[in-house]
Amino acid sequence: MKAVLFEKHGGPEVLHLAEVSDPVAGPGEVVVDIHAASVNAADYKVRLGGGAYSSGGVKLPHILGRDFSGVVSAVGPGVTDLRVGDPVFGVCDQGIEGAYAEKIAIKAAIIAKKPDGLGHAEAAAMALTSLTALWALEDTAKLKAGETILIQGGAGGVAGFAIQLAKHIGATVITTASQRNHDYVKKLGADKIIDYTTTDFTTLGQTCDVVFDTVGGEVQSRSYSVLKQNGRLVWIAGGEAGFKSDRADVQVLRPKVDRDRAHLERMAELLEAGAVWPPAITRYKLADAAEAHRVSEGRHLQGKLVLTVR
Ligand SMILES: NC(=O)c1ccc[n+]([C@@H]2O[C@H](COP(=O)([O-])OP(=O)(O)OC[C@H]3O[C@@H](n4cnc5c(N)ncnc54)[C@H](OP(=O)(O)O)[C@@H]3O)[C@@H](O)[C@H]2O)c1
Repeated sequence: MKAVLFEKHGGPEVLHLAEVSDPVAGPGEVVVDIHAASVNAADYKVRLGGGAYSSGGVKLPHILGRDFSGVVSAVGPGVTDLRVGDPVFGVCDQGIEGAYAEKIAIKAAIIAKKPDGLGHAEAAAMALTSLTALWALEDTAKLKAGETILIQGGAGGVAGFAIQLAKHIGATVITTASQRNHDYVKKLGADKIIDYTTTDFTTLGQTCDVVFDTVGGEVQSRSYSVLKQNGRLVWIAGGEAGFKSDRADVQVLRPKVDRDRAHLERMAELLEAGAVWPPAITRYKLADAAEAHRVSEGRHLQGKLVLTVR
């Protein structure tokens, strides 16, 4: 099969299409013929030698890619709930990647049937983003109707799903985005949009029950100041080195984002109910993964970047 490989850490140009061996379904696994794989911010961080793998290192050559949508083409021993021909989508287990490829072997228990009517590109785009947003807002922040949430980076992948989810829960949603993304985040349901390039979001004062930070760095440091007494700061992007908040009353929470079928099915249920819908998607061919990485690394995309594989 063909896959996007990189053999040394570096810029997007290290990504190249190569022929590699087909995966085999082990016990409890299926092989999925991938139709679409999404590009996540984590991918360029790994390519640069950092991210989740900076401590252990990635064994090179490596295939990136954490989520995908496709069709089951082989079933391993012990798998009884998926069959060859089933359209499925999913997210690789923690510490495992490999979706920038024509095929992937993956534990059947952590993937789900693709909702009917949802295209492969859309399902791939919604896999890790929905899983992360669900773990962050439902399982970790335990966001409630009537609460106010500030979602940092509203036009991004995870944040875009989070805006829809928070509105569905019944929260008031404030988000930050540059001007060109305001119509987009408004359509997703944001009640108030702050153009962070012209307005300091800390002028909100202590008005938020929850901040969901998908931007990180100094944005995270400044987010403490908009939380009400005993508010919750939920973060998925790294904070500022050496920063210490003086808000001892605030709970700081990092969602664990385990991979499981239940959260993917929860996303499908929300989709079916009309509570969430696919993000804006920019498509690239698998061979053009380097170009998609340039855009991802630029940190100002709208919605999701998706590699179409077949
Ligand atoms: N399991 C996990 O913990 C997990 C899972 C997924 C992602 N993550 C991490 O979460 C972060 C977000 O991932 P993602 O894939 O959702 O990101 P993304 O889609 O790449 O986000 C890019 C967005 O960030 C916005 N942005 C950039 N700087 C901003 C700022 N200063 N203020 C407000 N918005 C800003 C941009 O909008 P504008 O053009 O409007 O600036 C753009 O739409 C990444 O660090 C990623 O590694 C963690």
